[in-house]
Amino acid sequence: MSEVLREARKYEEIVEKTITDRERPLFHLSTRVGWMNDPNGFSYYKGKYHMFYQYHPYDIVWGPMHWGHAVSEDLIHWQYLPAAMGPDEPYDQFGCFSGSAITLDDGRQLLMYTGVSKESQPDGSLKEVQKQCLAVGDGLDYEKYSGNPVITADKLPEGAGSFDFRDPKILRKPDGTFAAIVGNRPIKDKSGQILVFSSKDGFHWEYDHTLDTNRCRYGRMWECPDFFELDGKDVLLVSPQDMLPEGFEYHNGNGTLCLIGHLDENGRLAEEQNQSIDYGIDFYAPQTVLTPDGRRVMIGWMQNWDTSGAMRGEDLKWFGQMSLPRELHVKNGRLYQQPIRELENLRRDRIEYKDVKVEGPDEDLSSSLALNLAEKDSESEITLDGVKGRCVDITMKIRPEEAGRLFDRFTIKFASSGEHYSMLIWRPKERILRIDRKFSGSRRAIIHQRRALVPGEDEAISIRLIVDRFSAEAFIDDGIQVMTITLYTEQEAGGISFSCRGKAMLDVEKYSLE
Ligand code: FRU
Repeated sequence: MSEVLREARKYEEIVEKTITDRERPLFHLSTRVGWMNDPNGFSYYKGKYHMFYQYHPYDIVWGPMHWGHAVSEDLIHWQYLPAAMGPDEPYDQFGCFSGSAITLDDGRQLLMYTGVSKESQPDGSLKEVQKQCLAVGDGLDYEKYSGNPVITADKLPEGAGSFDFRDPKILRKPDGTFAAIVGNRPIKDKSGQILVFSSKDGFHWEYDHTLDTNRCRYGRMWECPDFFELDGKDVLLVSPQDMLPEGFEYHNGNGTLCLIGHLDENGRLAEEQNQSIDYGIDFYAPQTVLTPDGRRVMIGWMQNWDTSGAMRGEDLKWFGQMSLPRELHVKNGRLYQQPIRELENLRRDRIEYKDVKVEGPDEDLSSSLALNLAEKDSESEITLDGVKGRCVDITMKIRPEEAGRLFDRFTIKFASSGEHYSMLIWRPKERILRIDRKFSGSRRAIIHQRRALVPGEDEAISIRLIVDRFSAEAFIDDGIQVMTITLYTEQEAGGISFSCRGKAMLDVEKYSLE
């Protein structure tokens, strides 16, 4: 084992002890120590789920990338394993960037990742170069392949850029051979494309074809691709950098994109539908795994590159968490996500309310009164006995009191101390759901709100909200959309309340998560 990896393993074991369980999320995977970004090598191997991740153990900011490692039997309870890789070879000394994992026929696990090094260029400058590399292991210890790097710039097709070339997702084809899909930035339009490489044995690779090209449609460079078949469709997930907003669908910055379609005869994705994967603030670079019982499950980095520096707890000893694992489906041409059903094993103390009337002044009052609406909201705010707690799984069905008479807005406050809280605000007339952490205790001038245009025509909306110590994920109407945020409100803030401008009826089913 290299000195770099030995040091990292020693360091994480010591420093981990300074973080108590209560200082971590209850049921989301967080970094063992230091910093975490993208999920890597999400796989099922030797009877356990393995999650590796982009990891800088020595600080709570991004740095030379290692691969952290954790395993789980149910995707909810995680156990840390020693760091799997460190930047210890000439071809990856600036980082072992994102990648994936697959099982070889001989039972070993193969990791494929992007090695980053700096190389002098013909013009004398030093530039970061990205190459695909391998490591082989037994689920605990991994050895980098002596033939590394296995995919270098000379294997790239014409027009492909050699500097942005990363995040291989390795796949097994039905005939037993291997494919790797890799993000790349073409020289010409500088946006993104997904290249497919193929290999008979997992070690020797050649360029095969191009799965899809961005052509500047969705942001620029496409990072962290994943590709799978689901419910009769072919699905490509990528995380585009530098996106521009398009109505309610995408938003500025690094975002997520799901393309649903089918492969044509040339192996290119013929796109039928495009959409965001998550409509909240903190979700990026997701990866999926196929579970032994055939479910396609996705986990994303529950963070946002543009706000990750500013949105963190003041005394936080670690930085970076993964989203809840989400079961995926394609229905009516759209991506649906549901919290992994194993989460239900944490449910305690079921509380149910039906047909609760929530009522407050309408919005169509004179403008001077409108100024006081926020106050009025809190006057008409209601709480329900037992409906509270910081770690909760709560499903709310909200509908107008009288069919056809839509209310103006319905507000759910959660993780609330009174002074600090986060909100979901549903405006059925516009069909807009807003998630808002502006009052969650953040003192930074960063984005705190996002809005989703909820598809459909139903006057009722169903929202399943899952709140952990440092996050909230709202699953809308069977999972047609999900909105994810991180939050660092003081842990005592566990209030939940409801208010309405107009008249609404509310059903609630609430569990504590333990
Ligand atoms: C995405 C990403 C990847 C890269 C990794 C580096 O968040 O930029 O493209 O491999 O992070 O940590």
